[in-house]
Amino acid sequence: MLLFALSLLSHLYVAYGASCRCSSVTIPVHVDVQVPKDPTDMYGGLTSNASSLRHLDATYNVYGVFCQPVTLPPKNAGVIQLLVHGFSYDSQYWSPPVEEFRNYSYAAYSCDRGLSSLAIDWVGVGLSSRPANSSDVQFASCAAAVSQVARRLKSESILTGVPPFKKVVGIGHSAGSGLLNFNAITEGAQSPFDGLILTGELIVQPGELPPSALVPPGAGCRPAPLGIRAIFYPPDPTSFSPRMLMFDEFTKDVGTVGTFYQIFTNSLTSQYNGSVAKVIGSEDQIFCVGTGRCANVTALTAAERVPWPAVKSFELAVAQGSGHSMNLDFFANGPFSTCVHFVKQFTGLPY
Ligand SMILES: *[C@@H]1O[C@H](CO)[C@@H](O)[C@H](O)[C@H]1NC(C)=O
Ligand SMILES: *[C@@H]1O[C@H](CO)[C@@H](O)[C@H](O)[C@H]1NC(C)=O
Ligand SMILES: *[C@@H]1O[C@H](CO)[C@@H](O)[C@H](O)[C@H]1NC(C)=O
Ligand SMILES: *[C@@H]1O[C@H](CO)[C@@H](O)[C@H](O)[C@H]1NC(C)=O
Ligand SMILES: *[C@@H]1O[C@H](CO)[C@@H](O)[C@H](O)[C@H]1NC(C)=O
Repeated sequence: MLLFALSLLSHLYVAYGASCRCSSVTIPVHVDVQVPKDPTDMYGGLTSNASSLRHLDATYNVYGVFCQPVTLPPKNAGVIQLLVHGFSYDSQYWSPPVEEFRNYSYAAYSCDRGLSSLAIDWVGVGLSSRPANSSDVQFASCAAAVSQVARRLKSESILTGVPPFKKVVGIGHSAGSGLLNFNAITEGAQSPFDGLILTGELIVQPGELPPSALVPPGAGCRPAPLGIRAIFYPPDPTSFSPRMLMFDEFTKDVGTVGTFYQIFTNSLTSQYNGSVAKVIGSEDQIFCVGTGRCANVTALTAAERVPWPAVKSFELAVAQGSGHSMNLDFFANGPFSTCVHFVKQFTGLPY
C-alpha cells in the first residue's frame, strides 16, 4: 500500500520554513469569450468562423497558493510569478505538498531567491470553479481566466498587506504554457504579462498528434488514463524517484478533451511584444526523445521563434537530463535555476 504523509491542510496554508510565507487565495474572475461549439476544434476557435463559435460569459473563482519571502527585498516587491500547471496536474505541481518532496518545490526555490509567486488551479481543476458543463472548459475560457488573474494582480491587492504588483511573469508547464501562449495570441501587445516562460512545450504542428494514450476517452472531465504517467518522466528510470511517479499517479487531477487538443493553437502567430523564453527537457518523451528536435539548440530556437515576430526577446534553453514534468525528476534544480534567471532578466531585478 502507498503511504504518503499527504498534508490536506496544505490547501489552507503551506509553509516551507521561516523564509517563505504562503497563503491560499481565491480570485473571482469574469470571462467573456467565444469558444468553439466543438471542443475538439484543435485551434480552440481562433481560426473558426462565427457560425462555429458560441458566446461564453461566466464568473469563476480561481484558487491559488500565494508565496512570498518573509524578508522581501524592496526591488522585488513589485514582481510576481504566475504559475500555471499542465494537463491533469494542478497547482501542487509547483510544490508537491509532502515533506519527502519538499526540495521539488519551484515556489520554495524561487521564494528563497527573493521572488513571490501565485500558483493557480485552472478553471475546472483542483479547487477552482468547476463549470457544470465540461464543454465550457476550453483554452479560450481557461486562458482568459489566467489573464484576468494577471490583471487583478496588477490592479488590486490579493491579500491584506500585499500591494498590487507592477510586473507579472507567466510561467507555464506543458498545456499551461499553451494557455499563456493562447493569451499571447488573443491579447498581443495588450497582454498583462511582462514576460512568459513556457516550459515543457514546443510547437505542435497539425498532423503531429499527441500520444493517443494521453487523450481522455469521451467527453467530460476525467483523469488521464492509469499507468501512462511514466511518459512525463525521462526514459532512464534512475533519473527520478519511483516514489515521485507513484505520488504523481496518486494525485493527478482532471482535464477535458478541449484543454487537451487545443495545444495546437501554439503553432499560430502572436503579436505579443514582451519577452519569451522556452525551457524544454532534453529527455522530454513527448517533444524531444526520438524526435531529433532538441539536439541542436540553435536550430530549435530558430524554429520555435517563428510564431513570435514582435517579441522583445526570445530565448530557448534545453534542460539537460530533464523530462517533460521537469519539476519532478532529479534534474529539477537545473530548470528551477533557469526560470529564476529569466524572471530576473525580464523584470530587471538584480541577480
Ligand atoms: C464555418 O465553419 C464550419 C465548420 O468548420 C463550416 O462547416 C462552414 O462551412 C463554415 N461557414 C462559412 C460561411 O465559411
Ligand atoms: C453543454 O454545452 C454544450 C454547448 O452549449 C451543449 O451543446 C450541451 O448540450 C451541454 N451539455 C449539457 C449536459 O448540458
Ligand atoms: C507593447 O506594445 C504596447 C502598445 O504599443 C506598449 O504599450 C507596451 O509598452 C509594449 N510592451 C513592451 C514590453 O514593449
Ligand atoms: C545547428 O543548426 C544550425 C542552424 O540550423 C546550423 O547552422 C548548425 O550547423 C547546426 N549544428 C550542428 C552541430 O548540426
Ligand atoms: C531532493 O533531495 C533528494 C535527497 O537528498 C535528492 O536525491 C534529490 O535529487 C533532490 N531533488 C531535487 C529536485 O533537487
